[in-house]
Order: sequence, then structure tokens, then C-alpha cells
Amino acid sequence: MRVADAEIGASKFRQCAACHSYMDGATDRGGPNLIGVYGKPLGTNSVRFGYTAAMRDKGGKWDAATLDRWISNPKKMIPGTSMQFDGIEDRLDRADIIAYLQHLGETRN
Ligand code: HEC
Repeated sequence: MRVADAEIGASKFRQCAACHSYMDGATDRGGPNLIGVYGKPLGTNSVRFGYTAAMRDKGGKWDAATLDRWISNPKKMIPGTSMQFDGIEDRLDRADIIAYLQHLGETRN
């Protein structure tokens, strides 16, 4: 059985990297920098980024369950979000990316 793998997630993250940087101190692109996003309240990872009200008002924090809902279909989870991304259908693809995001937070500094 294959399990979620952060290294595979790193290559799958390329589809996110068009909009998201993932290095400490990196500037926001079309979307906020995602370094350390795992475990944070929604809409707070980058202090400089202009999040939508829909995102800021959603509540909750980013964990495996909320991230999975988010990247499977952003507009379904948060109608009105500015993240222009259709979503990832494959559960395991999502799990790999989530493992990568979690790993990014842990290896920080
Ligand atoms: C076309 C650009 C684009 C792509 C591609 C994209 N995003 Fe986003 N992302 C955004 C924008 C814009 C926001 C801010 C949304 C808002 O404020 O409503 C966002 C927000 C987020 C947030 C919330 C950050 C926070 O501080 O709460 C996460 C997590 C996230 N994206 C993950 C991903 C992942 C993982 C992928 C790839 C599977 C991805 N995004 C692909 C543009 C994008």
C-alpha cells in the first residue's frame, strides 16, 4: 500500500507553486507564501497578503482534514475565495501534497 509521501508531494506541489512560494521570507505571488501554513488559522499565513473576506471569516485552522477539503475543491469549501484552482481529484495526490506542507513547517529553521 502506498502512503502519503512528502517527497512525492514536493513534485506535485509544482502545480501550486505557480501561485505559492514556499520558502521562509519569500514574497507572495498570486497567492500567499505557504511556509508554515500547517496548523495556522485560515487566512493568516502571510501578514502582507490580501485575503478575501470569505477566507478570513471562515474560521478554523489548517490541518490534514481542512487542507484535504480545500485542495479537493477550494470554491466548494469557501465560496467567494480568490484561489483560482479547480482542485485535485485523487485522494492520495492530495495526501502527498499535505504531507509536504506539514513537512515544510517542521523543517523550518
Ligand atoms: C492560480 C493561483 C493559485 C493556485 C494554482 C493555487 N493557489 Fe492556493 N491560494 C491562492 C490564493 C489567491 C489564495 C488566497 C485565497 C483567498 O484569500 O480567498 C490561496 C490560498 C491558499 C491557502 C490558504 C493560506 C492561508 O494563509 O490560510 C492554502 C493552504 C493554499 N492556497 C494551498 C494551495 C495548494 C496546496 C495548491 C496546489 C494544490 C494551491 N493552493 C494552488 C492562489 C492559488
